[in-house]
Amino acid sequence: MSHTSTVGAALEFGRRALGPISGTPSLDTQLLLSEALGHTRAWVLAYPEAKLNEAQTQAFINMVARCQDGEALPHVLGWWEFYGRRFRLTPEVLIPRPETELLIEGALQFLIQHPKRRMAADVGTGCGGVAVTLAAEVPDLWVTATDLSFSALQVAQSNAREHRVASRVRLLQADLLTSVAGSFDLICANLPYIPTKVLHGLAVAPREPRMALDGGADGMVIIRRLLACIPDLLEANGRALFEIGAGQSDTALAATQEVLPTSNVEVRKDLAGQDRLLVIDRMG
Ligand SMILES: C[S@@+](CC[C@H](N)C(=O)[O-])C[C@H]1O[C@@H](n2cnc3c(N)ncnc32)[C@H](O)[C@@H]1O
Repeated sequence: MSHTSTVGAALEFGRRALGPISGTPSLDTQLLLSEALGHTRAWVLAYPEAKLNEAQTQAFINMVARCQDGEALPHVLGWWEFYGRRFRLTPEVLIPRPETELLIEGALQFLIQHPKRRMAADVGTGCGGVAVTLAAEVPDLWVTATDLSFSALQVAQSNAREHRVASRVRLLQADLLTSVAGSFDLICANLPYIPTKVLHGLAVAPREPRMALDGGADGMVIIRRLLACIPDLLEANGRALFEIGAGQSDTALAATQEVLPTSNVEVRKDLAGQDRLLVIDRMG
């Protein structure tokens, strides 16, 4: 790419460079170029003949090279979208996934049906995607969000500020909800659920924090620990939501039956038809 390149030429350069490593090279290139130019994707598509200056060209080429070196696109961009909002990211947090929007829908369904139940928890908050989204969608909601990782909590705090919900999102460094006082109407948890052995073979393993992915021998070790505390933490008629891995529903249902035998429990599928969300409605 020459230093007096145009938007159109840059798009072509990026598409060719990312073709061998991405399933969506055109989209990825448009996002990277918008970031380098400080314009929207729509602008990039509308002005193919616009010229890039030297700094913009260099910024774009550097970002394409980072993707070619194996960095995840959201980490190169420094942000990713979740439930229609932009979240700042660093390599210390999990990239929020579209599957987790199912958890948001299960939470909003409960909050709409129960307008007085307004104390929520988000366990393993990462970049704050769940906590911040719920607080932004439900303006009288209070959320306690925990994570073991202090770096993740710093990212979550900047996202809570960016989306103007910092006064209603309490961020705590904690192991699950241990040492957190009180009980909750709604508990949301997208905790690590990939079995350790499976994780070793996955492309995400070197790209995202192990603490965000590794769910122990059967993937359910951390989820089971939180499930065991649910009777002490969840208010009567409250709801707990756990994102789970495909194939974990039998184990998750059995573990729930053990700790809350009288609750209503179901597993919801994601858009790909995979079991993804454990929904526990605690009876009176
Ligand atoms: C799968 S990521 C989910 C992040 C975010 N909730 C999301 O949906 O994008 C799991 C998060 O749980 C945190 N975590 C892992 N073990 C934990 C524990 N015992 N207590 C609190 N947080 C934990 C990780 O640091 C990570 O941020």
